[in-house]
Amino acid sequence: MPEALPASRTAVLVCQGRAAAHGLIAAGRFADPTAIRLLRADEREAVQWVRDAAVPQPWRQRVDYESVRANAEMIVPRTVAIDDAVRAHPSPQVVILGAGLDGRAWRMPELADALVFEVDQPSSQRDKRERAEGLPGTPPTFVAVDFGHDRLTEALAAAGHRPSEPTSWIWEGVVPYLTTAEVSTTVAALAACSAPNSRLIVNFQLPGTSVTLGRLVARLLMASTGRRSVWATEPWRSTWTPAAMAALLARHGFTVTGEHDLLETARALRVPIRHATSLTHSRVMVADRT
Ligand SMILES: C[S@@+](CC[C@H](N)C(=O)[O-])C[C@H]1O[C@@H](n2cnc3c(N)ncnc32)[C@H](O)[C@@H]1O
Repeated sequence: MPEALPASRTAVLVCQGRAAAHGLIAAGRFADPTAIRLLRADEREAVQWVRDAAVPQPWRQRVDYESVRANAEMIVPRTVAIDDAVRAHPSPQVVILGAGLDGRAWRMPELADALVFEVDQPSSQRDKRERAEGLPGTPPTFVAVDFGHDRLTEALAAAGHRPSEPTSWIWEGVVPYLTTAEVSTTVAALAACSAPNSRLIVNFQLPGTSVTLGRLVARLLMASTGRRSVWATEPWRSTWTPAAMAALLARHGFTVTGEHDLLETARALRVPIRHATSLTHSRVMVADRT
């Protein structure tokens, strides 16, 4: 039996970023009122420091503050690019792959008439279900799948997904944590149950020495507080050039119809930018099946 993954901590970090940005960054284009409700009390602390711009002095708190603030900057353009692509292409079914603490199923009125499925590895999904109790709105159908060894197509079919109807697939912040082979297998699996007019919205990281160095610094900073980095159990396993990702999608019948450099998106949204390099190495690609 492959070893079970622990509940994702990177999912908590990006959720903290959304909670910190809500109503303060790109207001009118970005909003996620579910994020704060999906966090536990101790996880809300750093969010509040960032919202109040109250830079804490103790080192450990300072590192938490900086990491939540950096995530808020990164998550706003990513969320807006993905939400826009979802809204522009209504589908009867939406599948959120590696959903983590994504609140879209609850927060997006555009999804109210769609069948929404959330796929995640079992521990992260258990954690999400506990946290989401009491969130107003209709919960999605939860489907536990580890992309490393479970069969996505069968699990979705068992949960009521209909391969004969179009699906919008949202794959945000997950590709880096999968190997190249796992990404390819997952694209093949979702393509096998994508009817014509389906859409895949995928976020991935571009290769780059400066980004690798930046991540190393982030890990060292976290280690300097005496705690394990959130990436200790969730290391990056693959980066993709846009050409390689487009070629993979094309092999499975998806044509790229949109591509967003998140630095450009952040500038258009007037997000205060401190980490231009990491933004420009994060892409959102939109691909459709005809
Ligand atoms: C950074 S979080 C992103 C969560 C969410 N998509 C978002 O953007 O807020 C990464 C997510 O990928 C999931 N994940 C990582 N490896 C996985 C695997 N092998 N199978 C299924 N899910 C996985 C984690 O459980 C976690 O929920």
